[in-house]
Amino acid sequence: MDAITLLKNDHRKVEKIFSDIEKGNGNRKQLFTELATELTVHAEIEEQLFYPAAKDAEPTRDLVLESYEEHKQVKMVLSDLEQADMNTDTWLAGLKVLMEDVQHHVGEEEKELFPKVKSKVLSKEQLDDLGQRMEAMKIERLAASKRR
Ligand SMILES: [Fe+2]
Ligand SMILES: [Fe+2]
Repeated sequence: MDAITLLKNDHRKVEKIFSDIEKGNGNRKQLFTELATELTVHAEIEEQLFYPAAKDAEPTRDLVLESYEEHKQVKMVLSDLEQADMNTDTWLAGLKVLMEDVQHHVGEEEKELFPKVKSKVLSKEQLDDLGQRMEAMKIERLAASKRR
Protein backbone atom coordinates (compact mmCIF):
# COMPACT_ATOMS: atom_id res chain seq x y z
CA MET A 1 0.00 0.00 0.00
CA ASP A 2 1.37 3.44 -0.79
CA ALA A 3 2.10 5.78 2.12
CA ILE A 4 -0.73 8.21 1.42
CA THR A 5 -3.40 5.53 1.11
CA LEU A 6 -2.23 4.03 4.39
CA LEU A 7 -2.46 7.38 6.19
CA LYS A 8 -5.88 8.16 4.72
CA ASN A 9 -7.18 4.76 5.85
CA ASP A 10 -5.99 5.58 9.36
CA HIS A 11 -7.79 8.93 9.19
CA ARG A 12 -11.07 7.25 8.26
CA LYS A 13 -10.67 4.72 11.08
CA VAL A 14 -10.08 7.47 13.65
CA GLU A 15 -13.12 9.43 12.39
CA LYS A 16 -15.27 6.33 12.81
CA ILE A 17 -14.10 5.84 16.41
CA PHE A 18 -14.83 9.51 17.23
CA SER A 19 -18.32 9.19 15.86
CA ASP A 20 -18.92 5.91 17.74
CA ILE A 21 -17.91 7.58 21.01
CA GLU A 22 -20.15 10.56 20.34
CA LYS A 23 -23.12 8.39 19.44
CA GLY A 24 -22.51 6.01 22.33
CA ASN A 25 -22.00 3.06 19.97
CA GLY A 26 -20.13 0.84 22.39
CA ASN A 27 -18.18 1.10 25.60
CA ARG A 28 -16.73 4.58 25.98
CA LYS A 29 -13.59 3.54 27.79
CA GLN A 30 -12.82 0.78 25.32
CA LEU A 31 -13.42 3.03 22.32
CA PHE A 32 -11.32 5.80 23.79
CA THR A 33 -8.44 3.41 24.50
CA GLU A 34 -8.62 2.31 20.87
CA LEU A 35 -8.74 5.94 19.72
CA ALA A 36 -5.71 6.88 21.81
CA THR A 37 -3.70 3.94 20.46
CA GLU A 38 -4.65 4.66 16.84
CA LEU A 39 -3.83 8.36 17.14
CA THR A 40 -0.54 7.72 18.91
CA VAL A 41 0.69 5.08 16.47
CA HIS A 42 -0.47 7.15 13.49
CA ALA A 43 1.37 10.23 14.74
CA GLU A 44 4.44 8.13 15.33
CA ILE A 45 4.67 6.68 11.82
CA GLU A 46 4.10 10.13 10.37
CA GLU A 47 6.76 11.69 12.56
CA GLN A 48 9.29 8.89 12.15
CA LEU A 49 8.83 8.11 8.47
CA PHE A 50 6.42 10.23 6.45
CA TYR A 51 7.23 13.75 7.61
CA PRO A 52 11.03 13.33 7.39
CA ALA A 53 10.59 12.29 3.76
CA ALA A 54 8.83 15.60 3.02
CA LYS A 55 10.53 17.92 5.47
CA ASP A 56 13.52 18.91 3.41
CA ALA A 57 11.63 19.58 0.20
CA GLU A 58 10.78 23.22 -0.38
CA PRO A 59 7.12 22.75 -1.43
CA THR A 60 6.23 20.88 1.77
CA ARG A 61 8.69 22.12 4.38
CA ASP A 62 6.42 24.65 6.11
CA LEU A 63 3.42 22.34 6.06
CA VAL A 64 5.47 19.61 7.73
CA LEU A 65 6.76 21.96 10.43
CA GLU A 66 3.20 23.03 11.15
CA SER A 67 2.11 19.40 11.27
CA TYR A 68 4.64 18.54 13.97
CA GLU A 69 3.23 21.39 16.07
CA GLU A 70 -0.34 20.27 15.51
CA HIS A 71 0.60 16.78 16.66
CA LYS A 72 1.97 18.23 19.90
CA GLN A 73 -1.33 19.97 20.51
CA VAL A 74 -3.37 16.84 19.80
CA LYS A 75 -1.17 14.81 22.18
CA MET A 76 -1.69 17.38 24.95
CA VAL A 77 -5.47 17.26 24.69
CA LEU A 78 -5.33 13.47 24.43
CA SER A 79 -3.30 13.14 27.60
CA ASP A 80 -5.65 15.53 29.46
CA LEU A 81 -8.55 13.31 28.45
CA GLU A 82 -6.69 10.20 29.59
CA GLN A 83 -6.34 11.67 33.09
CA ALA A 84 -9.89 13.00 33.41
CA ASP A 85 -13.11 11.36 34.58
CA MET A 86 -14.78 10.02 31.44
CA ASN A 87 -18.29 10.18 32.82
CA THR A 88 -18.64 13.95 32.78
CA ASP A 89 -19.82 16.59 30.34
CA THR A 90 -16.43 18.25 30.70
CA TRP A 91 -14.77 15.14 29.33
CA LEU A 92 -17.16 15.07 26.37
CA ALA A 93 -16.45 18.74 25.72
CA GLY A 94 -12.73 17.93 25.71
CA LEU A 95 -13.33 15.07 23.33
CA LYS A 96 -15.08 17.49 20.99
CA VAL A 97 -12.08 19.81 21.05
CA LEU A 98 -9.80 16.87 20.31
CA MET A 99 -12.03 15.86 17.42
CA GLU A 100 -12.00 19.37 15.97
CA ASP A 101 -8.21 19.60 16.29
CA VAL A 102 -7.81 16.25 14.57
CA GLN A 103 -10.28 17.18 11.82
CA HIS A 104 -8.46 20.41 11.13
CA HIS A 105 -5.11 18.67 10.99
CA VAL A 106 -6.37 15.80 8.82
CA GLY A 107 -7.94 18.34 6.47
CA GLU A 108 -4.60 20.11 6.01
CA GLU A 109 -2.80 16.85 5.41
CA GLU A 110 -5.31 15.59 2.87
CA LYS A 111 -5.99 18.88 1.07
CA GLU A 112 -2.50 20.39 1.09
CA LEU A 113 0.35 18.19 2.28
CA PHE A 114 -0.49 14.85 0.64
CA PRO A 115 -1.30 16.28 -2.83
CA LYS A 116 1.97 18.25 -2.80
CA VAL A 117 4.01 15.27 -1.65
CA LYS A 118 2.43 13.22 -4.41
CA SER A 119 2.87 15.73 -7.21
CA LYS A 120 6.12 17.43 -6.23
CA VAL A 121 8.18 15.48 -3.73
CA LEU A 122 7.99 11.67 -3.88
CA SER A 123 7.71 9.33 -6.85
CA LYS A 124 5.22 6.49 -6.97
CA GLU A 125 8.04 4.03 -6.17
CA GLN A 126 9.13 6.10 -3.19
CA LEU A 127 5.55 6.30 -1.90
CA ASP A 128 5.18 2.53 -2.24
CA ASP A 129 8.46 1.86 -0.49
CA LEU A 130 7.65 4.33 2.29
CA GLY A 131 4.19 2.77 2.65
CA GLN A 132 5.72 -0.65 3.22
CA ARG A 133 8.03 0.63 5.92
CA MET A 134 5.17 2.53 7.55
CA GLU A 135 2.97 -0.54 7.54
CA ALA A 136 5.71 -2.62 9.19
CA MET A 137 6.25 0.01 11.87
CA LYS A 138 2.53 0.27 12.46
CA ILE A 139 2.11 -3.47 12.99
CA GLU A 140 5.05 -3.50 15.36
CA ARG A 141 3.81 -0.52 17.39
CA LEU A 142 0.23 -1.80 17.62
CA ALA A 143 1.53 -5.14 18.89
CA ALA A 144 3.71 -3.37 21.46
CA SER A 145 0.76 -1.33 22.71
CA LYS A 146 -1.27 -4.51 23.27
CA ARG A 147 1.49 -5.96 25.42
CA ARG A 148 1.34 -2.97 27.76
FE1 LIG B 1 -0.59 14.14 11.16
FE1 LIG C 1 -2.39 12.01 9.53
